[in-house]
Amino acid sequence: MKYIELNEIDSTNAYLSERLLSGEITEPTTVFTHSQNKGKGMGQNIWVSDNDKNALFSIALFTEVKTEEIFKVSLATSMAIYEFLKLKGITTKIKWPNDIYYDGKKLGGILIENKLDGNVVKSSVIGVGLNLNQEKFPKWLPNPISLKNITGQDYDVKEFITGISEMVEKKLNEIKDVPFADLRLDYLLNLYCFGKIMMWKIQGIKDEISGSIVDVKPSGKIVVQAVSGQLCECDIKEIKLIDDF
Ligand code: BTN
Repeated sequence: MKYIELNEIDSTNAYLSERLLSGEITEPTTVFTHSQNKGKGMGQNIWVSDNDKNALFSIALFTEVKTEEIFKVSLATSMAIYEFLKLKGITTKIKWPNDIYYDGKKLGGILIENKLDGNVVKSSVIGVGLNLNQEKFPKWLPNPISLKNITGQDYDVKEFITGISEMVEKKLNEIKDVPFADLRLDYLLNLYCFGKIMMWKIQGIKDEISGSIVDVKPSGKIVVQAVSGQLCECDIKEIKLIDDF
């Protein structure tokens, strides 16, 4: 893995995506920054972080995963971060599709931007924001938490960036050719709210339903089974956990 350190940048994801497109990046590369002034989150969200406190980085990988199994990129990333944090003594949950949660609060977020060629994911920019040493967050952020909030300790940001980057690359290589059916249970068992009955708002269904997550598909769609027995297969835009931020 090659590393690029930047003092300040708009977004490490944007930085890598542009350089992948121009052909400047030709090997697995992680770019990390001390300060990000236009951090991108999922959907329309932004990602905010104090300078020098947290892990802010993106990993460019030459993925070579079939598009029908595109969720392997996300699964490899969230599982690698889960396992890295476990080695540090912190047991997290993955909130589908790929948020890192601790005690119902958001410790980290992942933003993956894939480049497809036919039925193959050619490359992925995997952006990770992980709250390490920041103790106070803006009031408008719904439910943030940092490792320092959890343990009171300070963490070496670079050690997390290199350790996680290596583990994500290794994990993706390991699972690339493993059938998705053999991976899903491990992921599901680490999922926030897996098997618990929760309230959901699902696109196309008028009322909120209560139901639980029962499966995840290779495309990344989640399967929620309503208490009535009805199965709903949804992507990220089609379902919302109620009482969640
Ligand atoms: C989310 O909405 O949960 C995803 C957040 C991803 C944030 C990280 S910070 C480093 C990288 N660069 C970006 O612009 N975003 C990701």
